[in-house]
Formats: sequence, structure tokens, C-alpha cells
Amino acid sequence: MNQRSALMLGTCVLAIAIAANLAWTAGAPTPPKVPSGWKFTLPDGDRTAGKTVFLSMKCYSCHAIDIPGEKLTMRSKGAGPELNGYSILPKEYLAESIIKSHAVVAAPGYSVKEGRASMGEYNHFLTVQELVDLVAFLKQGTKSGAK
Ligand code: HEC
Repeated sequence: MNQRSALMLGTCVLAIAIAANLAWTAGAPTPPKVPSGWKFTLPDGDRTAGKTVFLSMKCYSCHAIDIPGEKLTMRSKGAGPELNGYSILPKEYLAESIIKSHAVVAAPGYSVKEGRASMGEYNHFLTVQELVDLVAFLKQGTKSGAK
């Protein structure tokens, strides 16, 4: 190896080392940020499985709901709002009203007392999949037959 090529090799090694160091330091301090246009969305669930969850969790003990083509027509004692018509609300709203003690209520005539929703939360009783399916069931459009 002559002096010239030794010098070139040395320069190369140095350049690689600097580049690697730059890449490392550039990666470290940049915090991740939310991609623009991102929004939380709930995946599509299985309505039939959701109906099973609705029944097993006894949601009908407080909520009336009519399902065309099904023998299931339950009349609650009216503790909670009738859920027919809730299908027009976004999936994410419905999901939130089940997992997070909500400070706002869509149901006319219902309000949250002292910052507490009387329904409570189902986080300890539902799997995430059950929540997703339950929402698919509420989204099926019980009266209108809408999607
Ligand atoms: C102990 C009675 C009770 C049970 C059981 C119950 N809810 Fe509710 N739910 C309520 C009441 C009361 C409200 C009205 C808002 C509030 O005070 O929490 C409500 C509100 C809702 C709302 C609408 C929230 C809004 O913004 O208007 C949805 C959706 C809902 N419940 C779904 C369910 C599902 C699904 C289940 C079963 C997993 C369930 N509820 C079980 C009492 C109940």
C-alpha cells in the first residue's frame, strides 16, 4: 500500500465513523411525534359476537334495545337510555362510553351527576375484542336497518 492509498483508506474510515456518529446522535434526541392526520379509530367488530356480549353482560338490564329479525326485545327498567338509534354515533364514541366514565352524555334527559356517570366502566369485565364486537352490535342500526 503506497502512502496515497493509505491516506484515502484513512479518510474513508474517518468519514464512515463520522457518518455513523451523526446518525446515532441525530436519532437519539428527536422525540417521536403523532403523524399528521392520525385519529384513533376502532377496528370493525363482529355484531353477532357483540350481541352475545350484550346479553352476557346484561346491558339490557338498564338499556332497552330492539333487534329486527330477532326475538330479543327487552324492556329495561329505564335506568339507562334506550340504545335504539345509537347506531348513528361514531364507533369511537360508543366505545368510550363503555370504557371511560364519561363526563358527557349523548342521551337526551341524562346527565352526569357530580362528574360521575351512573353506568360505571366495564374495563375489568370486557376484553378489547368484546368491546370492539359490542360496538359493532350497537352500530348495526337496530331500527333503521342501517349499517
Ligand atoms: C346499571 C345500569 C347500566 C348498565 C348495566 C349498563 N348501562 Fe349503559 N348507561 C347507563 C346509564 C345510566 C347511562 C346514561 C349515562 C350515565 O349516567 O352513565 C348509560 C349510557 C350508555 C351509553 C350512552 C352514553 C351516552 O353518551 O349517551 C351507551 C352506549 C351504553 N350505556 C352502553 C352500555 C353497554 C354496552 C352496557 C353493557 C356492557 C351497558 N351500557 C350497561 C346505565 C347502565
